[in-house]
Formats: sequence, C-alpha cells, structure tokens
Amino acid sequence: MLDVAIRGATLVTAEGMQRADLGIQGGVVAAIAARLPEARRVVEADGLWLMPGGVDPHCHIEEPAPDGTVMEEGFESASRSALAGGTTSVVCFVPQWKGGGVLERFREQKRRAARAMVDVAFHQIVTDPVPEVLERELPALVEQGVRSLKAFLTYDPLVLDDGAFLKVLAAARRLGCLVTVHCENHHAIAHRIAALKAAGLEAPFAHALARPPVVEREATHRAIALAEMLDQPLQVFHVSCAEAAEEIARAQARGVQVWGETCPQYLVLTADDMARPGGEGAKFMCSPAPRAAAEQERLWAMIRRGVLDVVSSDHCGFSFGGTRGKRPGGRDAPFDQVPNGIPGLQARLPLLFSEGVAAGRITPEHFVRLVAANPARMMGLWPRKGSLHIGADADCVLWDPKAERVLSNAAAQHAIDYTPYEGRAVTGWPVMVLRRGEVVMEGDVVAAAPGSGEWLPRGPYDLIRPRGGLEPWLA
Ligand code: URP
Ligand code: ZN
Ligand code: ZN
Repeated sequence: MLDVAIRGATLVTAEGMQRADLGIQGGVVAAIAARLPEARRVVEADGLWLMPGGVDPHCHIEEPAPDGTVMEEGFESASRSALAGGTTSVVCFVPQWKGGGVLERFREQKRRAARAMVDVAFHQIVTDPVPEVLERELPALVEQGVRSLKAFLTYDPLVLDDGAFLKVLAAARRLGCLVTVHCENHHAIAHRIAALKAAGLEAPFAHALARPPVVEREATHRAIALAEMLDQPLQVFHVSCAEAAEEIARAQARGVQVWGETCPQYLVLTADDMARPGGEGAKFMCSPAPRAAAEQERLWAMIRRGVLDVVSSDHCGFSFGGTRGKRPGGRDAPFDQVPNGIPGLQARLPLLFSEGVAAGRITPEHFVRLVAANPARMMGLWPRKGSLHIGADADCVLWDPKAERVLSNAAAQHAIDYTPYEGRAVTGWPVMVLRRGEVVMEGDVVAAAPGSGEWLPRGPYDLIRPRGGLEPWLA
C-alpha cells in the first residue's frame, strides 16, 4: 500500500500540466495515475496544484564572520520560513576568510546545518585562492559533495581581483565545479561611495547611487569574458538589470556556458524603497541595489527569453531593530556601513507566482522551472530535486492558485524583525508541503523536527562539463 496518495490535484511540472493522482512510497514519488487506490494517508486536493518543492539555490544562513559572530538567521528558523513558503531544499554558503582555509569552515557549517529541516547543499566561497586551498583543500571538499564555488568581484574583504578570479575559474574547471559570481566593479563602487560621502549623501537611498547598472554590467562582462577564456561554466548571481542580462544573452548566443539568476526583490522592489524616511530605507538594501521601476519589465522579458533561468531568494537577513543587524554603526550610520542583504526565503514562491503566473507574465510550467527544476539542474540535484518523476524525492507543494494573502512580518517564520514585502498583496499560496513524503507544513503550520533535513552531496554533472578545446598548456 502507498504511504501517501494525493488525489485530484493538477500536477504542474517543468514539462507540463495534467490532472492526476500522485502516490508516495518510502519518501519518493512512486506512482502517477488517473486514479490511485487507497493509501495510508489520502490527501484530497481538488482545485489545488501539485508542484515540486522549491529549490532555493542562493541562501545566506548562519554564516559566521571572522570576528566570531554568526548571522542572525539560523538553520532552524530559515528552514521554517522555507517550508512555510513552499521551499524544501536550499543551497547555502561556506565562508573562507583571507589567510584561512576552507575545510574547517566546511565542517563547522555542516554542524550548523545539522539543525536544518530542509535538505541542504553548500557553495564554497573562495576569497583567498592560495595553492594549499586550490590544490589540497578544494579537492577534498569536492570529494565530500561540494560542486560550486562562489566568487565575489566586490565587498571588502571578500573581493577577488582578476588574477585571483582566474585562479578560481581554473581550479573549478580542473575539479568539475560550477563557478557562481557576484558581479559589481569594486573600485567603481569605492570611487562613487567616496564621492557621495564627500557630497554629504549618506542616507540609505545613496546605496543605489553608489552601485548603478553600469557597475554591474562591467563586472558581468568581465566575469563572463574570463570564464569564456578558460572554458569554465559560470552562473551570474542576482542579476538586477537588463544591461547585465544583455551581457549574458550575448555570451549565450556565442555558445558560452553562462547562466543568469535573478531574485524577486529585483522584480518588485525599487530604488525608491531605499528613500523611505527614518532610516527605513536600510530594510531594502541589498547588492546589487533594487533599480528603477522600469527595469522590472525588462527583467521579466529576460526571464521569458530564458536568459535568466533561475529565481533565487538571496535570503540574507539582518534585523532592522537593535544595534546589530542592519545598524551596527548606529541608527544614522552612513549607508556604506549598513550590511547588504534582505530576507526572502518564505516570500520567494508567493511573490514570483503572484507577479509571474497570476499576473500573466509567465506560464505555470515556467514558474516551476524558475523556482525548482532549473535551480536543481544548475546545482546537479535534478531529477532527485525539482521534479515529480517516478523515483524523485517526494518534495511537493500543494498550491492554491487563487488564494489571496497579504505578506506581513507577523506571519513570517524567519528570525528577522521585518520583511521588505510588508503589506504586499499576493495571489497564490502554499497550503501543504511534503518533504521526502512527510507532511512538514499544513495551513501555515510547520511541523518538522529540527535536524530532519538531509545533507545533499553533489557529484559530477553534465550541465557544467566544459566544452573542451582549451589549449593544453592552459588546462
Ligand atoms: O546584498 C546581498 N545580496 N547580500 C548577500 C550577499 C550577496 O552579495 O550575495
Ligand atoms: Zn552577491
Ligand atoms: Zn547572496
């Protein structure tokens, strides 16, 4: 007998929509049929859509800093907010600090992630590509299932110059890893920040002036050119504007293995949000910065063209109140002292569904590709994650496409004291979530045990296999 039968839903996957029952046995999808027999648990789902659980491939959770502090959002509360929003797997980050290695940080992060209630994989941030790390530690990490390296082209003290970035690209190619990259020109930002502060412009709204689209476009072009030169697959993170997306589109047209990710904040927030009074603008500060409203339809066009094929949350929560979080430098500290990042794990699916499917900008299947199937493919987790294929993990979200809700921090399940989406009305809402066959959220109540998430080791995968043809003396 099946463990669970979900009856009467419309199955929505990357491939299409069909009315069918779905059966679960031993935590995996075991049957899809017009009518399934009895099961230990039967879920009647007429009028609901059944989709693969969300895969959020870009989340900053419980990351430690070199000064010994750890981000406010821990794996337990982040998991709760993920499940409440229909996401069942996340990929988050292991730091490296300049002068230090990666293996000890990896072990530490795995201990922290052991509290998770969603399934977890890691990207390894590389800030100091010294021989010991490139030749000994990273290969050991790959053995343990890490398959993506993260490079920052800005932020002190994470920034890589071109020489260091090339070393990361070359190591990734040797090791069979994807490189993911934050693209903004570090020196251009520093130049603009100095000029803004000299002119007395220090409030949060100046964040957008410090980091205009040209700064992102230049770094995107450079990152792609260097990856292309070394025949190394690259994913550009959090693309915020059409200028940067155009760089990706041009490279894709040349046959370069480059992909683009964007985030809901770039589709619904604007630079004007950072001009809200009382320092409230800090609540919307992330990098790249939210742009002018006109940019949003251009990003949707890039999504429809497939240039941007993943929508992640870039969840990175800092509370607004208190002296930590958004304002360690005090309430009126200049904008460049406000930590960058906003929470969004829980709101990702509802926002994208509402603005995408309910608003008629994308199809339901495209929605599933953006939030589940493509992130899983990019991260080497497909079809175990991001699909409802027979044998896939039974990570499912039952979705009410007509439900109307208003987002609020009161209803958010993260550990942060605000949501940048307060008061925003959405159409479409998750009503039940199953993770590997277990009902872990029903009616906004998350019922999963801390530590019930699983580590997702990743092996080599075809999507990021280099094309070949690199000069032998360069490989
Ligand atoms: O502002 C952001 N996005 N903060 C998180 C770190 C990053 O740049 O991805
Ligand atoms: Zn970034
Ligand atoms: Zn990020």
